[in-house]
Amino acid sequence: IDELLSAGVDGKRVFVRADLNVPLADGVISDDGRIRAVLPTLKALTGAGAKVVVASHLGRPKGAPDPAFSLRPAAERLGELLGAPVAFAGDTVGDAAHDAVNGLEPGQIAVIENLRFNAGETSKDDAERGEFADRLAALADVYVGDGFGAVHRKHASVYDLPARLPHYAGHLIAAEVDVLKKLTEDVRRPYAVVLGGAKVSDKLAVIDQLLGKADRLLIGGGMAYTFLKAKGYEIGSSLLQEDQIPAVIEYIERAEKIGVELVLPVDALVAPEFPDLKTKAPANPTTVAADAIPADQMGLDIGPETRKLFASKIADAATVFWNGPMGVFEHPDYAEGTKAVAQALLDSPAFTVVGGGDSAAAVRILGFDETAFGHISTGGGASLEYLEGKTLPGLAALED
Ligand code: 3PG
Repeated sequence: IDELLSAGVDGKRVFVRADLNVPLADGVISDDGRIRAVLPTLKALTGAGAKVVVASHLGRPKGAPDPAFSLRPAAERLGELLGAPVAFAGDTVGDAAHDAVNGLEPGQIAVIENLRFNAGETSKDDAERGEFADRLAALADVYVGDGFGAVHRKHASVYDLPARLPHYAGHLIAAEVDVLKKLTEDVRRPYAVVLGGAKVSDKLAVIDQLLGKADRLLIGGGMAYTFLKAKGYEIGSSLLQEDQIPAVIEYIERAEKIGVELVLPVDALVAPEFPDLKTKAPANPTTVAADAIPADQMGLDIGPETRKLFASKIADAATVFWNGPMGVFEHPDYAEGTKAVAQALLDSPAFTVVGGGDSAAAVRILGFDETAFGHISTGGGASLEYLEGKTLPGLAALED
């Protein structure tokens, strides 16, 4: 983007593909980290006199307008954060979008409606995506990619549109890639990786990659129960992905063979049922050993001994990457595990990276000072796929 700014953007229409996919319930944004993350790019462009068109997806609507997924709340929050009016177009490539863009003065911003209200955005068909990209290209003179959270998606606005306009990487994408490079090239050791979240299947590829790179792999969250089951433990009614057990057994064996420390929970907070996240009614969990979860109970957070164990493995690491909550942190009775990991990262002198929409949101929702972490990535899937060594369509499109 510095190259673009020095060439001059005064009066030019600049399309910024952001990731404003924020957690939203009943029109209320619970974490605006992704909106704040794109401000440096937007301020640089408006400050230089560009007419800025901001586009993003939000949630997973089915290729047609759906008011529940409107970007309007995100556009309003963007205006509040900038302290300046932000126009909002009620469609993506139709008359409203063109009117909003035509109405821009240099230094002003318009947000267009959710890209995924159009089937062409996510289509697997190159021609259909290309057609939609052509319509997006008509809105602008220049493209700036800054939606790091979506660079792993081969979508029209991420992959096809940059090929149709002069294209540049924004400040956020540049900063994210800079940090993730430190985890893939010349990483400082010991390198500890903490993985959580619900599903093992989402993390298989990254575990596979990290087994050759990390010195320690700490597994918590819902996915840990499949590991515990694979070790032959009783996990009661905890989350289980039975079909992943053979892969997990292979990882456990490989870790042992190549000398990677695989650290699993030693205890868990359990209850007979999943907590009510709306009322947050007390869940009264009990603590049990991780190899003896009663048949009628499910694990919902790591237990106190595991918190200590994980904290000690983080304390003397030189680099730590963390992705995924340790339990159902949205409920106060199950937030301690995730808090303990966040606190251990803060207490550690290591270079610490929090990767992922969920873990980044957890850190902020639980009240931690986000500036105290080495880096909080705005990308969940994107940062994991980067660490897997995959080619990310949205980065490849900007590099060519
Ligand atoms: C994310 O939240 O990881 C990104 O915004 C991408 O969203 P998606 O998984 O719906 O493509």
